[in-house]
Amino acid sequence: MSIKILGTGAYVPEKIVTNDDLSKMVDTSDEWIMQRVGVKERHISVNETAADFAIYAAEKALASAGISGSDIDLIVAATISSETLCPTVAGMVQKAIGANCPAFDVNSACSGFLFALDTAVSYIMRGNVKKALVIGSERLSKLVDWSDRGTCVIFGDGAGAFVIEPGDGYLSSMLYTSGGNEVIEIPSFSGSSPFYEGEIKHPYIFMDGQETFKFAVSKIVADIKKVTQDAGLELSDIDYIVTHQANIRIIEYAAKRLKMPIEKFVVNIEKYGNTSSASVAIAFDELVKSGKLKKGENIVMSAFGGGLSSAACVIKW
Ligand code: UT7
Repeated sequence: MSIKILGTGAYVPEKIVTNDDLSKMVDTSDEWIMQRVGVKERHISVNETAADFAIYAAEKALASAGISGSDIDLIVAATISSETLCPTVAGMVQKAIGANCPAFDVNSACSGFLFALDTAVSYIMRGNVKKALVIGSERLSKLVDWSDRGTCVIFGDGAGAFVIEPGDGYLSSMLYTSGGNEVIEIPSFSGSSPFYEGEIKHPYIFMDGQETFKFAVSKIVADIKKVTQDAGLELSDIDYIVTHQANIRIIEYAAKRLKMPIEKFVVNIEKYGNTSSASVAIAFDELVKSGKLKKGENIVMSAFGGGLSSAACVIKW
């Protein structure tokens, strides 16, 4: 027994910021961003928080599952950009949807949604949770230094959510962490303790792009191969691959190395940029809504990023 996906949902804020908009703020161009990253535009919050996005995505997932908030036994949300450390994003969702169940957040940066999904799957496999809500939600625009062209052109805001229940559709999974702050770091608020003599860091995204790129391309290929093999499948048995949308070149590299047609990869980076823990969930929701998925098809989800971390799983639809 494992799980099946009963419903999915996604939400992005209304405001769209284009590459041309950004080129008026920093020294960049639509051409550079499209060629080096593959992003054309991103949705950016004006007044909504990561908790708000999570609530809207959760409501859509519940509607698509045909159940109400009171049917949910567990809520796990992945986020690195909540407005509050307490309450959690999951807790805010719990109240908004009228659920009466444990709710907590997990943080594994861009791999967070797949860490949250694997956590919820484990609770379902223990038998005491029948329906779980899993969410990835980010207002990364709050963590971006908008004067740094190396990062502000990459990221976007949004959320995605799944409702899961017992089933036989989670064939394999893997989670990976290689801790350390050398490659990606997002400091949190350091406080103002008169007793603290440690370094005070600015709470913005620091990313060594090239090192992250190397990590991403090696992990995406190795992880997809591993979960496919662990599921007892060949790469040719995989119908769709839903990866973290960090850079179109990473997805193209994976398709080439895995000798899989690029058409099998869900790609929406052009519209949303990198939405961290929300990206796989948003892309999966788009795949579901496209109506292309057929019962019995195999889908790999793969994510990588801060931590450093990566995660992957195989879903049978
Ligand atoms: O979600 C977490 C996981 N994240 C990732 O997987 C991200 C992985 N890394 C990447 O996607 C890429 O490394 C970036 C998109 C972040 C950067 O692309 P790059 O091809 O690695 O560029 P670079 O940092 O090596 O910079 C190349 C040049 C530099 O100029 P010089 O020194 O060669 O003159 C940069 O200053 O491009 C310049 N540059 C820009 N130019 C125009 C950097 N950002 C920009 C920009 N517009 N926005």
